[in-house]
Amino acid sequence: MSASDPSQASVAGLARSKSELAELIRKRVGSRLFVNVSNREPFVHSFGPDGQVRAQAAVGGLTLALNSVMQAVGGVWVAHGSGDADRASADPEGRLRVPPDNPAYDLQRVWLTSEENDGYYNGCANQAIWPICHLAFTKPVFRTAHWEAYRKVNAKFAAAVARAVGDQDAIIFIQDYHFALLPRLIKQRCPNAVCVHFWHIPWPLPEVLAMCPWHEQILDGVLGNDVFGVHVPEYAERFLRAARTRAGCDIADSRTLLRDGRPVRVQAFPISIDFDRVSRRASGAACDEAVSELRERYRLDGKFVVLGLDRIDYTKGVIERLQAIERMLALHPEMRAKTAYIHAGAPSRTEIPAYRDLHEAVAAIEKRINAGGSGREPGPVISIQRQLGDDDVLALYRLADVCVVSSLEDGMNLVAKEFLAARNDERGHLLLSEFTGAAWELPGADCFNPLAVDDFAERLYALSGRADAGGAQRMRRLREHVRTHNIYGWIGSILQAVPGQPDAQ
Ligand code: G6P
Repeated sequence: MSASDPSQASVAGLARSKSELAELIRKRVGSRLFVNVSNREPFVHSFGPDGQVRAQAAVGGLTLALNSVMQAVGGVWVAHGSGDADRASADPEGRLRVPPDNPAYDLQRVWLTSEENDGYYNGCANQAIWPICHLAFTKPVFRTAHWEAYRKVNAKFAAAVARAVGDQDAIIFIQDYHFALLPRLIKQRCPNAVCVHFWHIPWPLPEVLAMCPWHEQILDGVLGNDVFGVHVPEYAERFLRAARTRAGCDIADSRTLLRDGRPVRVQAFPISIDFDRVSRRASGAACDEAVSELRERYRLDGKFVVLGLDRIDYTKGVIERLQAIERMLALHPEMRAKTAYIHAGAPSRTEIPAYRDLHEAVAAIEKRINAGGSGREPGPVISIQRQLGDDDVLALYRLADVCVVSSLEDGMNLVAKEFLAARNDERGHLLLSEFTGAAWELPGADCFNPLAVDDFAERLYALSGRADAGGAQRMRRLREHVRTHNIYGWIGSILQAVPGQPDAQ
């Protein structure tokens, strides 16, 4: 993906803060019921070792932002009930009021058997749709049983949404690739509901989509939406092309296609983060403490610190990043004692063979690199394989000389934006894969091709030596972009596109 003019997208900046967003939502949603649907739930209940039930809020900027939306409008959040104490903490229909300490909306849990979850989540969503949507050369797995589970689970969610909506006017905000069939199923049950769906990963090229044996059903399902959002115009164009050539839709204008005479708006809404929250927290005392603690624990003083922070996923270019480090050290052996490569990556989707294999491959290369020295010094690779708390993550951003985002394909990549927000000192360097939505959106970012490992290694080496001329200016510009194109503007732009509000233009 090449960087192009972000003004082509709808980044209207309609809400700059949480309070502006709340105001906008109240106006846009009006008296309609607001229903948000996602696979992961905002609060998970589990039993502690003492048998007591504990509620844990999901982490992550998107969940926090959606939680703000729900708190502003009330309504219902429909999600998979995955905690072992989830049933015990909901009513017989699977409903409860949340957030636990300040109830403002309903959480409607959907119960899945382990077989359903395995087929729908580990199978169809993450072994068929995920690899098809990412050009990361991992062969998709298409099993009929997975598809059956995916259909069944989408139908379960549709039933849960229909129960919540009843005969009310409603806006249904659907998150992600777990629910390609849901919009069509909702429309069958609630014809007046407005469906808005955001696809948080890339939308594939039509030719690649066609490799999926269920592509017609997937397209038909998504075409049940009134608004379909993706990160960048390229994905919107791919979708429009597939809808025209593979589903026979007419194109009404550059953003609208017609499905059985009904308009479907397809548009880029580049997702973002809560810049002010990240920036403020990165300046806090807890983060200062984490910086000192990590610096000491990993003996980072005087080192060239390279950071890679991502889930261990084959789309993130974790192997290529290690290969580049290994190559740099082979070409410039003097760098060995001076370099600390921190890989902070929580294991992910570990029930899927491709992820387990990747995990092993990463561990093997890390071991090989660290074994390459005299054995007297700790090796240059520092691997932190656990879910880190907010302050530790922000501290790592602050400690990095270079933050490397090496995705082979990535819808947006919010690590890039968080790193920028955390660097209030306007220092540090973002080395950003050109195959990310962020590379398209961020003006003047330093982009590279992570598959060209030799070049990647040289880029890292060059960054170790030079005082980054113009670096502060670049950081200032990038930070300003993220500050003014934040998560509240993202949701605001999407709501602006929802048809039928009282004051819609
Ligand atoms: C990534 C994707 C999201 C997706 C999430 C699911 O972050 O960008 O689109 O929802 O993974 O992760 P999970 O751990 O729920 O499989």
